[in-house]
Amino acid sequence: MFGFAGDSRPGAAVDLASCKDPGGIGVDRGRERGAELQLYLESERVEPIYRCATAAGPSRLTAPAYLCAMLKSTLIRAVEAGAAVMKQYFQGEFKISNKEGVNNLVTEADHASEKAIFEVIKSDFPSHYLLSEEAGAITMDSSFKWIIDPIDGTVNFAHGLPLCCVSIGVEQDGEMILGAVYNPFINEFYFAQKGYGATLNDKKIRVSEETSVLRSCLVTGFPYTYLDQRPGPLEVFDRLIRSGVPVRRLGSAAMDLCWVAAGRFDGFYEHKLQAWDSAAGFLIVEEAGGRVSDFTGRPYSPYQPHIIATNGKIHNALLSVVNNPNIEL
Ligand code: IPD
Ligand code: CA
Ligand code: CA
Repeated sequence: MFGFAGDSRPGAAVDLASCKDPGGIGVDRGRERGAELQLYLESERVEPIYRCATAAGPSRLTAPAYLCAMLKSTLIRAVEAGAAVMKQYFQGEFKISNKEGVNNLVTEADHASEKAIFEVIKSDFPSHYLLSEEAGAITMDSSFKWIIDPIDGTVNFAHGLPLCCVSIGVEQDGEMILGAVYNPFINEFYFAQKGYGATLNDKKIRVSEETSVLRSCLVTGFPYTYLDQRPGPLEVFDRLIRSGVPVRRLGSAAMDLCWVAAGRFDGFYEHKLQAWDSAAGFLIVEEAGGRVSDFTGRPYSPYQPHIIATNGKIHNALLSVVNNPNIEL
C-alpha cells in the first residue's frame, strides 16, 4: 500500500496490485482510455485523483484502477510525445555535441524529446519524481519515479540509423511497475505492466525457447569509454565470437532488451548501463517470461551497471561465460 506525497485525503492509500480493471488493457485501449479519462478530468464530474479531496474517482472506476489507468495513459502519451519529436528531427538538421568520452553524443533532439516527455508527465503528475538522462534527477517526495531515456541509441540517431527509441519506466516504491519503449521508425511499441505480461503493438510477446548458448543469437553493447575490468566486454565478446556464437551490437540497450523479450535474441549482456537505459526494457523482458540479473545472478537493479537478460533457459550458462570467458561452451 502506498499514499500520495502531500495527499492528506483520508483513505488516500491505494494498492496498484489490486488494479484489475483496466490494468490488463493494451496500448490501443490505453490510448482510448486516456481520451476517456481526459474527458473525466475536463468535466466537473471528477478531479484527477491526486488533486481530489473527496471523490474516490469516476463512478465506473475504483480509485486504484483510476490511478492505474492514468499512469498508463500518461506513460503512453509521454513515450509518443518523445517519439514524435525524434521523428521530426530525424528528417532534418540538428546540433550535435559531446558529453564525456570521445563519441558520447547528445543532440538537440535528445533535449527536445525530454522536454516533450516532461510536459506530459508533469501536467498529469506534477508531484512525481523524474530521473532523466539529460536533465538528471528532479527529486520529489513521491512513491512514483519516472525513469526516462529521451533517445536511447543517440549515436545511431545522429548517424541517421533508425535503431533508436524512447524508453520510460515507472517505479512505485522502488519496484518497476510499468515500462514502455517506442521506436517510431520501425513502428514498434513495447509495453509491460508488472504482473500483466508484455506486448509489442498490443500483441503478447514471449521470450525464445533456446536452451544452448552455443546455438543462441546474442546481443551486447559497449561502453562509450572502455572499461579496464577483467573479464572486460571485449574478452567476453572474443570468447563468444571465437566459439562461433553470433553476437550482434545494435547500439540501443532498450531495443536489445525488447528484442530479447520478443524472442528475436536469446540473450543480452552489457557491462555498464545507466538506470534510464534499462528501466523499461528489463520489466518488458521479465514480463515476456525472461530472466534479468546482475553478473552475480541476483535479481536485477537498474541502479548498478551490469545486466544479463535472457530467455531464462540460457541464463546460468551465459552468466558463467560473462564471469569466466575461458569456460568451455
Ligand atoms: C546507450 C545505448 C547503447 C549502450 C550505451 C548506452 P544512449 O544509450 O543504450 O546501446 O551500449 O551504454 O549509453 O547514450 O544512446 O542513450
Ligand atoms: Ca540510453
Ligand atoms: Ca539517451
